Amino acid sequence: MRALVVGDTGGIGAALSIALGERGYAVTGVSRRSDGLDLTDENSVTRVMGGLEGAFDRIFVATGALELAGVGPEKSLRGLEADQMMQQFALNAMGPALVLKHCVRVMSRTADCRFAVLSARVGSIGDNALGGWYSYRAAKAALNQLIHTGAIELARSHPQSVVVALHPGHVATPLSLKYGGNLPAVGTETSAKNLMTVLDSLTPAQTGGFFDWEGKVIQW
Ligand SMILES: NC(=O)c1ccc[n+]([C@@H]2O[C@H](COP(=O)([O-])OP(=O)(O)OC[C@H]3O[C@@H](n4cnc5c(N)ncnc54)[C@H](OP(=O)(O)O)[C@@H]3O)[C@@H](O)[C@H]2O)c1
Repeated sequence: MRALVVGDTGGIGAALSIALGERGYAVTGVSRRSDGLDLTDENSVTRVMGGLEGAFDRIFVATGALELAGVGPEKSLRGLEADQMMQQFALNAMGPALVLKHCVRVMSRTADCRFAVLSARVGSIGDNALGGWYSYRAAKAALNQLIHTGAIELARSHPQSVVVALHPGHVATPLSLKYGGNLPAVGTETSAKNLMTVLDSLTPAQTGGFFDWEGKVIQW
């Protein structure tokens, strides 16, 4: 069994690599830090993803950021800036979609193969009661749509596939610590185990969905 972790240098990504290895997977990791994989640059995604040899049984895309170039999420409409909004979309929506594009080649057409991207509950429009965090929310909502659409296409060519967006919960990583307030955070090791368990529990009939770390459906 082989697994691929895109963004294995991140808090959750690194823990996923270890946990998958402990479950017996031969794990391949790719990242910006180690491989120069910049998800906001299509040429970079093509170069790094194009160098991978399949097939992978489990793929996790664990990249993303809430704060970009030192600029945190917007608290109000006054904080909206075009460049920041575009960068959020590039990293949190476009990049993982390009990764999925290249992963089609390294996913089995006949065997059980599963692809999960780390989204966020705050990308749910129906669940948004607090406001704020405009660009991150919008980018994750766009990510969910891209993954849902890709899953429909892959269900035709890869009928055993499961392609989903997962919310990891509030996890103690550099991404969350600064903005988590008093929310209790789980450790990365626990989060990785939860995410693997959820992905393993889903069936091809559930492909295209948006699930939390417990396997509960999150409304769009
Ligand atoms: N932590 C939470 O509580 C939480 C909650 C909800 C959702 N999430 C989602 O979970 C995912 C992982 O979060 P995390 O907490 O593990 O974050 P993290 O520890 O900050 O890790 C972020 C990862 O994204 C990579 N990355 C950032 N910009 C990149 C770029 N331009 N191109 C390629 N890779 C890039 C980083 O690579 P480098 O090593 O090169 O910097 C790193 O591997 C994110 O999508 C986040 O939105 C996290």
